[in-house]
Amino acid sequence: MSKFWSKVVHGLTPYTPGEQVQMPGLIKLNTNENPYGPSPRAVAAMQEAAGDGLRKYSDPSNAVVKDAVARHFGLTREQVFVGNSSDEVLAHTFHALLKHDLPLLTPDISYSFYPTYCSLYGIEAFYVPLNERFEIDVEDYQQPCGAIILANPNAPTGIALPLAQIEALLAAHPEQVVVIDEAYVDFGAQSAAALLGRFDNLLVIQTLSKSRSLAGLRVGFALGHPDLIAGLERVKNSFNCYPLGQVQQAGAVAALDDVAHMEQTSNAIIASRAWLTAQMQALGFEVLPSQANFIFTRHPQHDGAQLAAALRERAILVRHFKAARIDQFLRITIGTDEECGKLVGALKGILS
Ligand SMILES: Cc1ncc(COP(=O)(O)O)c(C=O)c1O
Repeated sequence: MSKFWSKVVHGLTPYTPGEQVQMPGLIKLNTNENPYGPSPRAVAAMQEAAGDGLRKYSDPSNAVVKDAVARHFGLTREQVFVGNSSDEVLAHTFHALLKHDLPLLTPDISYSFYPTYCSLYGIEAFYVPLNERFEIDVEDYQQPCGAIILANPNAPTGIALPLAQIEALLAAHPEQVVVIDEAYVDFGAQSAAALLGRFDNLLVIQTLSKSRSLAGLRVGFALGHPDLIAGLERVKNSFNCYPLGQVQQAGAVAALDDVAHMEQTSNAIIASRAWLTAQMQALGFEVLPSQANFIFTRHPQHDGAQLAAALRERAILVRHFKAARIDQFLRITIGTDEECGKLVGALKGILS
């Protein structure tokens, strides 16, 4: 608290990220990082970019990154926005596109940065409850609103919405922007990017943090109608004209172009997810059907917070949220097969 803070700062509840603990032997399954390394081509490109050229400012239009994204999705540069992480892209989206007279609709259980952006930018939100199976029901969004934002797959549930339901949502709200946050889409869900040609109210947001294993690089992007992108550019250029440095730009382009690496590592994670889900179910856990690089799970006889604490004592970090409806769940990132095996071994010991 300080008398020098503005009113907005007094009213903020900042987002709390998962811990970034450094401990030898730690199995870190708490922040949905990718257990496999990034594309070696991306690493080589960044090493090459880390030279004398850094004395100059980077290209403020991020043209090479936009072109790499556009190539990947079969779009034009004008349909692409690039930012320093998808969190930054989301922040600009809330600022530029989601503040209207009617409330923003978003699920009651979703990415917990959304309420933070609402308080930062003074956006009124209505939190639509997930149904009893923890799914988003698009029928529940049939109500007057200023805009809609969903994560697909949702976080922290991991449950994905089929494309047909997103299409129905977009068709039902032609006058509102509908944002689909696809941070985890490459682990088995369908991307709404396929609908961009038909809906000028759609904005899709993705990140290189998860399926490209570049959480430490901080690169995210949005896809949408050029008018939506132009709105984001106006906010970005009123905030920081150079959100990506040259090293980031070089790494992002090479990572986006190395589709084979992304597919191979994502497929390995999908296979480990199936194995871990079966093992957890055999131990009596309920596991929500996940299309993400994590599972969301609870045990009918064991308290979620206590399980997280017991795992922590065994140097395994998972994420537990002290939030209504989900305080018995653990969100567990899919690690390597060895890490998943050690997690199952530890849980067997704790439950016995
Ligand atoms: C649903 C969702 N969206 C966006 C992000 C932000 O990703 P980043 O800022 O690393 O691009 C996360 C991070 O965990 C997330 O879970």
